[in-house]
Amino acid sequence: MVRVRLVGIRKSFEGFTLEIPELEVESGEMMTLLGPSGCGKTTTLRIIAGLEKPDSGRVFFDETDVTNLEPGKRNIGIVFQDYALFPHMTVFENVAFGLEMRKLPRDEIKKKVEWALELVGLKGFENRYPEQLSGGQQQRVALARALVIEPQVLLLDEPLSNLDAKIRERLRGEIRRIQKELGITTIYVTHDQEEAMAVSDRIAVMNSGRIEGIGKPLELYYHPKTEFVAKFLGLSNILELEAENGIARLGTLEFKTGRDGKVRVFFRPENVLVKPGKGARVIDYDLLPGRIRLRLGIGGETITAERFLNELPFSPEDIPKEVSVEVLSYSVLE
Ligand SMILES: Nc1ncnc2c1ncn2[C@@H]1O[C@H](COP(=O)(O)OP(=O)(O)OP(=O)(O)O)[C@@H](O)[C@H]1O
Ligand SMILES: [Mg+2]
Repeated sequence: MVRVRLVGIRKSFEGFTLEIPELEVESGEMMTLLGPSGCGKTTTLRIIAGLEKPDSGRVFFDETDVTNLEPGKRNIGIVFQDYALFPHMTVFENVAFGLEMRKLPRDEIKKKVEWALELVGLKGFENRYPEQLSGGQQQRVALARALVIEPQVLLLDEPLSNLDAKIRERLRGEIRRIQKELGITTIYVTHDQEEAMAVSDRIAVMNSGRIEGIGKPLELYYHPKTEFVAKFLGLSNILELEAENGIARLGTLEFKTGRDGKVRVFFRPENVLVKPGKGARVIDYDLLPGRIRLRLGIGGETITAERFLNELPFSPEDIPKEVSVEVLSYSVLE
């Protein structure tokens, strides 16, 4: 497998510029590009595939500069956002297509197609047509079609976006399993933060044509550097405070900031410990399956705490009007 590297990439469309000074996807790594619609995820993928030419910058597969190599010669497997299968071809023919193009011998094609269909759990579906398959099955065919050529890089553009939530969850687990099993360098595009957390070795969060944060899922989730990354990955508490002597205070809470002046302190709701006592007023709360989300007033600010019901030190039927809070882990935004 190869390492994929983008260097000094720039691509402009009217009213939009993609700018990636540096992005490295390790050999065998699953890297997710995560971001809102229009932030440049597909464009980045298309540049890696060679379907889009950057205005400037280079694309490397290991040490090989592939910037001017045509897509067909890059040995990549792609599942597009709308994954269209050929409707007039059977499952077998759809998956075999890329191999036919490469003019492989019949019996070798048959072996490889069987291997790919087995991999995605569709053995026995060879003779069906796409319209005779569920959305999830069609998605697997698209995946088999990308994998059958044994690509050195796999590019997946929102491969699950057309499916309902349950199938999405199951298929993403399967994609992850197959990706690890084959050890294939994969770039996965999604705008769904939960999906990104579930499948990725690392996540690159994109915002308006730039990568705003990159890291392992939990590292990014708990220690984002910017407000955009913090909010995009989930429910956040962000407090604008004034730090003195390297410490910012809010009511009974104290945060070590390492610098003075205006700071933004960030923490996730599940890092707010709630105990019997004083210091924070319970404004209101929501009961969720197995959890409780409390809005707490402290020092003129509102923070959100989330606890599992079975670790709450009081009955959910009898939440006190005032509690004491502790923030277990936090970070300071840039
Ligand atoms: N061929 C093109 N010509 C002109 N503008 C384009 C072209 N391709 C993309 N764009 C613009 O570039 C921006 C980024 O598009 P891109 O498809 O990369 O976004 P995306 O992050 O994949 O979004 P989505 O989540 O909606 O798929 C958008 O503003 C889009 O309109
Ligand atoms: Mg897209």
